[in-house]
Amino acid sequence: MKKFTCVADIGPLDKALADAAEIKRDRFAFTELGKNKTLLMIFFNSSLRTRLSTQKAAMNLGMNVMVLDVNQGAWKLETERGVIMDGDKAEHLLEAIPVMGSYCDIIGVRSFAGLKDKQEDYEERVIEQFIKYSGRPVFSMEAATRHPLQSFADLITIEEYKTKERPKVVMTWAPHPRALPQAVPNSFAEWMNATDYEFVITHPHGYELDPAFVGKARVEYDQRKALEGADFVYAKNWSAYTDPNYGKVLSTDRDWTVDAEKMALTNNAYFMHCLPVRRNMIVTDDVIESDRSIVIPEAANREISAQTVIKRLLESL
Ligand code: CP
Repeated sequence: MKKFTCVADIGPLDKALADAAEIKRDRFAFTELGKNKTLLMIFFNSSLRTRLSTQKAAMNLGMNVMVLDVNQGAWKLETERGVIMDGDKAEHLLEAIPVMGSYCDIIGVRSFAGLKDKQEDYEERVIEQFIKYSGRPVFSMEAATRHPLQSFADLITIEEYKTKERPKVVMTWAPHPRALPQAVPNSFAEWMNATDYEFVITHPHGYELDPAFVGKARVEYDQRKALEGADFVYAKNWSAYTDPNYGKVLSTDRDWTVDAEKMALTNNAYFMHCLPVRRNMIVTDDVIESDRSIVIPEAANREISAQTVIKRLLESL
């Protein structure tokens, strides 16, 4: 595997899940693989889980790790070609990327959607430039339209907790005060559509996702109806995708907050969220603190998904 930005890159899911389970049984079984190899993690945006879990995963594989926060201590980077660089950006990505590539063996990139220009976001211009110009295997630590390490961890978690072959998984929009990208819901949908689970998406009118990601999912605008009989409830906020409202917050209606009354409609479902989560906007305190909340093991599986991916990239060197 030379890059990891979407579900297709990981190949058959049963093999990926088997690899993940092997790593989880003994995460130090492959410490020789990364010896004298360096991972460079580049953050254009903030992170807690991705930063720590990916670094831990690389260390488990015996790698050296360098972390660059582009907006704290590095030169501000221009990403567009043809710009007259007379502003505050001192360096162009087209020089910075090959320079960064010369110091490492594998590169992880986090670069969120700007939510101003849909075409620019959905072309994935930043991570695609890393893939093109770094000369190194590149993996996404959340890009403009997908968060595949999160989705892989979500899948591992569902596989660990499911009690039937084909669980009903419901992804529900929930309110948030700020405009968030569609990367997590897009990616979760893409990964769920690669399984044979029953997969339902529920959101208010106006929050339709890109049909390319919705795929074969059933879209249900009545949240309560969608939640009936669910085995897993995956809550997430996202901003509007459809024009002319791309990137906008259309609603902060707390009637969409996941609370105990909504969870009572489910098949005693497990509650999931990628974190960080705004309590009592996305989910109430009692639901996230309940014994059906699996947000902590879900986050812990980020180490496993990252290690599975980095191991494959190391094997390709
Ligand atoms: N879920 C997730 O990616 O968390 P961070 O933004 O803290 O990395």
